[in-house]
Amino acid sequence: TSHPKIALRQHADPRGDTVSEDVAEDIAKDIRSVVATLSQKGYRRLVAVSVDDGDARLTTCLQSVGFRRRPRMEVYERALRHASPSVTDLPPQILVSDFHGLAAQEVYPVVDAIFAERPIVGHRSEFQEIMENSGFLPDCSRVARDGDRMIGVQLVHRRAPTVVEFTYGGVTPEWRRRHVALSLLSHSLDACRAAGYRTVTGHVAIENAAGRGFLDRAGFSRVGSLSNCSLDLRGDARSPARA
Ligand SMILES: CC(C)(COP(=O)(O)OP(=O)(O)OC[C@H]1O[C@@H](n2cnc3c(N)ncnc32)[C@H](O)[C@@H]1OP(=O)(O)O)[C@@H](O)C(=O)NCCC(=O)NCCS
Repeated sequence: TSHPKIALRQHADPRGDTVSEDVAEDIAKDIRSVVATLSQKGYRRLVAVSVDDGDARLTTCLQSVGFRRRPRMEVYERALRHASPSVTDLPPQILVSDFHGLAAQEVYPVVDAIFAERPIVGHRSEFQEIMENSGFLPDCSRVARDGDRMIGVQLVHRRAPTVVEFTYGGVTPEWRRRHVALSLLSHSLDACRAAGYRTVTGHVAIENAAGRGFLDRAGFSRVGSLSNCSLDLRGDARSPARA
């Protein structure tokens, strides 16, 4: 069975917009019980997202429970009614196809090449978690090949009845700036539109200038930013029960 990554989104304070110390303490307790339950169920990672760094106290609570801060993200959105970018200059030997019959391992060479240039804790296990996340849409996701070599990938997940998210996109360094990513994205957009979705979202780390330039070029608009924290639940799950 797969254990999808889950998001704890916008933990709202039910008592209004001022969070006092004791309410903050309640939130920390809630989060601890959520963490305990999810660890028992075999989930591997808990991600908490807060929009626009809105509540520093929530971040403090999360850190007190053991969450680590991850890079801040810019959030982008695009309406699918707009035509997909047309790509006329893709090198002719590049073949773009969907995910039918493809195993995650076959995409690892691309993922490893991308993580090798910018090491991120988790490496391909991070990618594997994204792929296993519920809502993966193989029909809307795409890979690019140069002969037998995998050189690019675009993963798409369903997020709501009309909304998809572009969850991971990348091209091996030696194939960059030749419109491979744009072509993958364009095929994905067409497939999402044909499947009846209306909006696509995506996010990219603030310091990722190439990613932001790419989404701009593909017709996405920035709709905000979010800070995110992550907690590895496996450590908790493995440690012996405390007295
Ligand atoms: C971002 C990434 C996927 C782009 O792949 P790519 O195949 O090189 O992109 P394309 O050739 O299709 O570029 C399309 C357009 O995006 C923009 N773009 C691409 N790379 C850019 C860069 N380094 N800086 C600024 N704009 C860039 C340009 O407008 C480009 O059009 P142009 O070359 O005609 O000017 C690639 O750099 C990558 O794999 N990065 C590491 C993984 C990553 O950051 N993924 C997040 C994606 S949101």
